[in-house]
Amino acid sequence: MEKRNTFSGKIGFVLAAAGSAVGLGNLWRFPYLAAKYGGGIFLLVYLILAITFGFILMITEIAIGRKTQLSPLAAFGALSPKWNWLGKLATFVPVLIFPYYCLIGGWVTKYTYAMLADGQSAASDSYFGSYVSSSTEPIIWLLVFLGITMLVVIFGVNKGIEKLSKVLMPLLLIITVALSVYIVSRPGSKAGIRYYLMPDFGNLSFKTVLAALGQLFYSMSLAMGIMITYGSYLSKEEKIEKSTRQIEVFDTAIAFLAGLMIIPAVFEFSGGDKEALSSGPSLMFVTLPKVFNAMPAGRVIGALFFFLVLFAALTSSVSILEAIVSGLIDAFKMKRITATLLVSAYGIALGVICSLGFGIWSDFTIIGMSILDFMDFVSNSIFLPLVGMLTCVVVGFVIKPDAIISEVELNGPFKMKHFYIAMVKWIAPVLIFAILVSGILQSFGILKI
Ligand code: TRP
Repeated sequence: MEKRNTFSGKIGFVLAAAGSAVGLGNLWRFPYLAAKYGGGIFLLVYLILAITFGFILMITEIAIGRKTQLSPLAAFGALSPKWNWLGKLATFVPVLIFPYYCLIGGWVTKYTYAMLADGQSAASDSYFGSYVSSSTEPIIWLLVFLGITMLVVIFGVNKGIEKLSKVLMPLLLIITVALSVYIVSRPGSKAGIRYYLMPDFGNLSFKTVLAALGQLFYSMSLAMGIMITYGSYLSKEEKIEKSTRQIEVFDTAIAFLAGLMIIPAVFEFSGGDKEALSSGPSLMFVTLPKVFNAMPAGRVIGALFFFLVLFAALTSSVSILEAIVSGLIDAFKMKRITATLLVSAYGIALGVICSLGFGIWSDFTIIGMSILDFMDFVSNSIFLPLVGMLTCVVVGFVIKPDAIISEVELNGPFKMKHFYIAMVKWIAPVLIFAILVSGILQSFGILKI
């Protein structure tokens, strides 16, 4: 058997996994969900879920990957032949995410360009609306973003991108910190900071918890086989528990900062209007250009910021496409180029449908959601919790927690062992199931609390 590559440096694994995890989920999706689902209460629920469910699921996936040394398609089958299909289900999730990830990536590309070309008009109220509702522009930018992603995967230049990201990601962190400090110190930001940091339990609902759970899995690339793949490349000398903590802290810190940058700004520029807070996917694009417009050298800073977001989005879209393509190669012995072209064509077709959902098809909604929101809901609020829950069931009752624990303990004690066993066997699957069912019922308007 061919020996799998392993990460060399100590920090190499953590950086690579965190680099893949940090993307639009942190910068675009987290702030708009937090704004929409009650601010502080969403943040609190998210943090609690991250240190409980997020932690046990990530450690489980990394350990499964390192133990089996297999890709997610084969890993579950190797643990228990009856559960082979769970690996397939997990690998299917990126297929759902890919088209609209590229659509939003296209929006970011457009805004990078707009900042450079004419920062001021991007700050006007109607700019975003007229852009997304157009039947051509967002589709052109979708093609640009998806095209770059496709070329990277075809030519296999990921390694170069990874090197570049070691420079650009820290830069993104620095500029995000600087922007959040700038926004927080502006006079109009008080109400927004309070909304974001002070939990109001009146805003708590199953929908909030389900949204936070889906976001957690999405942001940390959990329940879709990604961390299994990374685990399979992790050397046996590394401490899984510690690496998991570091990836989690890194990913959460970026999401937190993105919220701190965007939510107070929404308050300042809209006066805390409920409508603006719940505007969803458009939040970052409507708010940030106004901030850049109000600050000195805003156009340059704005262009740089969107460029860095674009880069973060690109590293993630490349690894999403790569995950699907390598799945197709493994499962159907397809050629790399055929698989990549096929998935890209599919991505364009669905991406175009999502895009038109903001324009000529905006009257068409499914349970009150636009097409993009609906795809996002199905993948993140249904499939991810479902796969996460089933992973816990497999570990808790089929292969038994000891199989994971012994892998984690290969080098040093597993500090949270007892917590892990209780969580993976009972607490996580039962609670995920409860959150999933009540959240879905609430979204359909069947359950009202
Ligand atoms: N976690 C990524 C983000 O926050 C998005 C993502 C979802 C992803 N699935 C993935 C990234 C698969 C890499 C691979 O934006």
